[in-house]
Amino acid sequence: MKVITTIKEMRAAIADLRREPSGSAKGIGFVPTLGYLHEGHASLLKRAREDNGAVVLSIFVNPLQFGPNEDFERYPRDSDRDLNVARQEGVAIVFMPDVQEMYPQRMLTSVAVSGITDILCGSSRPGHFDGVATVVSKLFNIIQPDRAYFGLKDAQQVAVVQRMVQDLNMNVEIVPCPTLREEDGLAMSSRNVYLTAEERRQALVLQQSLNDAEEWLKRPGIRLGELKEKVAAQISTAPLADIDYVEIVSYPSFLPLEEWEHQALDIVGDKQILIALAVRFGQTRLIDNRILSLEGLDLKGALSHV
Ligand code: PAF
Repeated sequence: MKVITTIKEMRAAIADLRREPSGSAKGIGFVPTLGYLHEGHASLLKRAREDNGAVVLSIFVNPLQFGPNEDFERYPRDSDRDLNVARQEGVAIVFMPDVQEMYPQRMLTSVAVSGITDILCGSSRPGHFDGVATVVSKLFNIIQPDRAYFGLKDAQQVAVVQRMVQDLNMNVEIVPCPTLREEDGLAMSSRNVYLTAEERRQALVLQQSLNDAEEWLKRPGIRLGELKEKVAAQISTAPLADIDYVEIVSYPSFLPLEEWEHQALDIVGDKQILIALAVRFGQTRLIDNRILSLEGLDLKGALSHV
């Protein structure tokens, strides 16, 4: 496994990989990360190995996607452990640039996806998705992968990257992958390490409220506005939970619930909803979501009085 820190060496290594039968025949799969890898990342690497001849992993805590009062400085880092995970998962190249290598001068260029970034994490973390789209574009330009793998825990990030790739004709297939959970149901996240034992215990309410939402949606006559309120009320039963947002959007178009009209939904053709949550426990902001089918639901009834 090669560990590379400069863009110049990375381009040369990718050119070598493309000349090898593994990289050229089945293609190069890419898993971009902020590091501090957990089993969710390992599952992305596994999937990338299945689909491709060679896998490239990037580890870069990207300052552009963190707000001024967010956790850039204290974001957990452990490169030795990350490199072990990468070795175990058969990664061919790990790209670990530092901030100076990625941003040697003040950036005058940024990639911004509009519309779907006005809601959810886009509105509660201003500039976050510009930072993500910009760094992912840079990484795609440097690595030029055939496929790139993203976890659906951040479903909005997946949608933003997919839209960027479509709009800018980037030659890479985006592969969304399912969220991995701890045994007790908490969605895996590098940020879980920040939680105290009590916060971690109470954070289970996120998964529980999403499970219940799935059941509530089966009830005849349930309205989506009511569903959203029920989910928020359930989360609020955890005393340490401080809700950033509980939202329901159509999926995969990310049309906010308040803007839905039956006709509009028919036009976008969405057959699913995404219930998305962002909740703080102490200093730690966690996100989670569930994608549920609208099949069989009386949409007119479900949407009335939202
Ligand atoms: O999801 C992440 O880990 C990051 O947002 C990404 C895609 C690596 C960009 O920095």
